[in-house]
Amino acid sequence: MCDGNGLTLNKCLPRHSPDPEHGPRVTPITSAAAVRSGGCRPVPIPSHGSLGGHMTRISVKVDGTTYEDEVEPRLLLIHYLRDRLGLTGTPIGCDTSNCGACTVDLDGETVKSCSVLAVQADSGEVTTVQGLARDGEWHPLQKAFHERHALQCGYCTPGMIMAARDLLRENPAPDPQEVREALEGNLCRCTGYQNIVRAVLAASGQEATT
Ligand code: FES
Ligand code: FES
Repeated sequence: MCDGNGLTLNKCLPRHSPDPEHGPRVTPITSAAAVRSGGCRPVPIPSHGSLGGHMTRISVKVDGTTYEDEVEPRLLLIHYLRDRLGLTGTPIGCDTSNCGACTVDLDGETVKSCSVLAVQADSGEVTTVQGLARDGEWHPLQKAFHERHALQCGYCTPGMIMAARDLLRENPAPDPQEVREALEGNLCRCTGYQNIVRAVLAASGQEATT
C-alpha cells in the first residue's frame, strides 16, 4: 500500500479491484504463513514509477537470466513472467491473491506474484518453479511431489513447491503441523493435502507418520 509519501507498496495481497489513480488497495495479511506466502514487507516503488500509463524501464534477473524491459507501471509481476517472458510454469489461479498458485521467490522471500508489480522487481532476482532444477536434476521438492503423488491436476503445485521451499529454508525439519501452517496460503482443490504434506516431509528427509 502506498505509505502516504508514494514511495512504498505493500507486498500484501490486493483484495479489491485496482483503483485507477492509486493502484491496488491492500488488506494486510498477518499470519506467519500468509506472510511467508504473500509477504507484507513494504517494497520500494522506483521514484520514477507511478501507477499511470507511461512505460518504466526495469532490469530483473529471472531464473538466472537478466532481462531489461520497458513495462507499464501497473503491470503485475505474474503477467510479466507469463506474458512477456513466456514463463508459464507459474500459473494464475485466482487473480485475487487468495490461492497461492502464482507464488514465486523475490529476493529471498516468497510473494504471490499477482500481488506484486513488475516494477517492484526492478534490480531484483526472481526465482520461479522453472528455475529450481539444477543440471537436469529436479529440486528435491519437485522429486518428492512426483514420487509421493502430491498432485492431481497440478495447478497448485508450482505455488506449493515454492512455499514449501521457503519453509524448508527456515525450518529444515518441520513437523506435519508446521508444514500445514506454512502452506495455509496455498489452496489445493484436488488432493486433500495429505500427500502434499507427506512430500514436503520426504523432501526434508523425514517420513510421514500420518
Ligand atoms: S493467482 Fe495469485 S494468489 Fe491466486
Ligand atoms: S492438484 Fe489440483 S489444485 Fe492442487
